[in-house]
This record gives sequence, C-alpha cells and structure tokens, in this order.
Amino acid sequence: MIIIGHRGAAGYEPENTLLSFQKAIDLNVDMIEFDVRLCKSGEVVIFHDDSLERTTNGVGLVSETSLTELQKLDAGKGQKIPSLSEAFETIGSKVKMNVELKGKSTAEPVSQIVRQFTDSGKINPEDLLISSFMMEELFIISKHFPTIKTAPLFRKLPKDFALTASGLKAFSINAGLAFLTKNDVAKVHASGYRLFVYTVNKPDDKERMKTWGVDGIFTDFP
Ligand code: G3P
Ligand code: MG
Repeated sequence: MIIIGHRGAAGYEPENTLLSFQKAIDLNVDMIEFDVRLCKSGEVVIFHDDSLERTTNGVGLVSETSLTELQKLDAGKGQKIPSLSEAFETIGSKVKMNVELKGKSTAEPVSQIVRQFTDSGKINPEDLLISSFMMEELFIISKHFPTIKTAPLFRKLPKDFALTASGLKAFSINAGLAFLTKNDVAKVHASGYRLFVYTVNKPDDKERMKTWGVDGIFTDFP
C-alpha cells in the first residue's frame, strides 16, 4: 500500500506549500498530492479552497485575485502560495506527484505546464497522476496526453464508476474513506483499476485499508 502525502504533509506543515512538499519528501512518501486552481491573472496555483480565508491571511476568492496579490499573502509559517511551475521545480523527479484539478478550465493550462516540464526532462510523465472530481477536465487531459495517468475522484463510489474510468482509460480510482466498503475495493479491483483512498489519518483506518487491500492512501500524516 503506497503512502500519498495529502497536500504535501498537511498534518505537519501548512498545506499545499513548498515547506509541506519538502516535509513529505523528507518523510519518504511514495507520492505527493496537491490541489490546483486558476487565479485571476490566469496562472495555475496550488490551493485547495475557493477562497483565501481558511489557510492564508487574505480574503476573497482565488479566482478574483491576481498572482502578484496572491504572492504577498502568508499561507502559514511565512510560506507563499506556490504556482504549479514552482511546485514542479521543487519536487521535480524526487517523488511522484498527484495533481488534483480543482475548479473549471484548469485542464488546458495544466497540460501546457506539464508539456513544458516533461519536454525539458525535468519531470517524467510516468511519475504524474492527474485526478479530479470534474470528469470533463480529465477528458481534456487524456485528449492532450493519451498516455498520462488519470484518476476520477469520487466521494462515494458510484455504480457506474467503471464506465467513467474506462472512458478515461484511468489508472486508478480515487475514493473517499467515509463511504468506502470492502465490497467497493473488490469491485474496483475486479474492473482492473487501482484504488487510492482519501483521507486516512487514523491508525485503525490505515490498518483496515491495508487489510482490505487498497493500493494507496492519502494521509495528512505520512
Ligand atoms: O485527492 C484526494 C483528496 O485530496 C480529495 O479531496 O478536498 O482533500 O482535495 P480534497
Ligand atoms: Mg485534494
């Protein structure tokens, strides 16, 4: 069962920051997950929520704030909100990455940045997994990069998950812990996909996931 650092190592350092990514690397995670969305000036930034309040000293929506303004904010412990390019520079080929697309219209700009970094050899396309709750964004990714790994995200595994996954030629199904059953694990595996489960922070849940045979867990405490 692989360990995926959720938003880096969000239980130890401010989520989705370079410090959090470095902590996850130091803790030897197998993969780092982070969330991306577009800011007002069009850049792709690493940020979970729609709005700035919970994790920074700013106010308002990320989509209504320019990169220059975002970079003035404190995302915790003096950390800045990273752009996707900065995250790729920092993580590079040190560890696999799961880029979660949040918000609409992220697939095209993310594809362009992925192309730059893979063409220049700074990241290996094999090491990337792109996931989203928004299937239409994932379809754009697989159109641009038929070989890149994708993962549909579900809070609760839907009955027709295999239909979506096969349309995407998905690598894994990424599903929420809260509604997951042992039978879901069997169904996902019988359909030929890996199953990564979020967000598994309690030791007993971690043990249960291992017993159920899931392929990886996202955790804030890698
Ligand atoms: O990608 C797994 C997990 O991060 C999905 O939920 O809200 O933490 O981005 P969320
Ligand atoms: Mg996420």
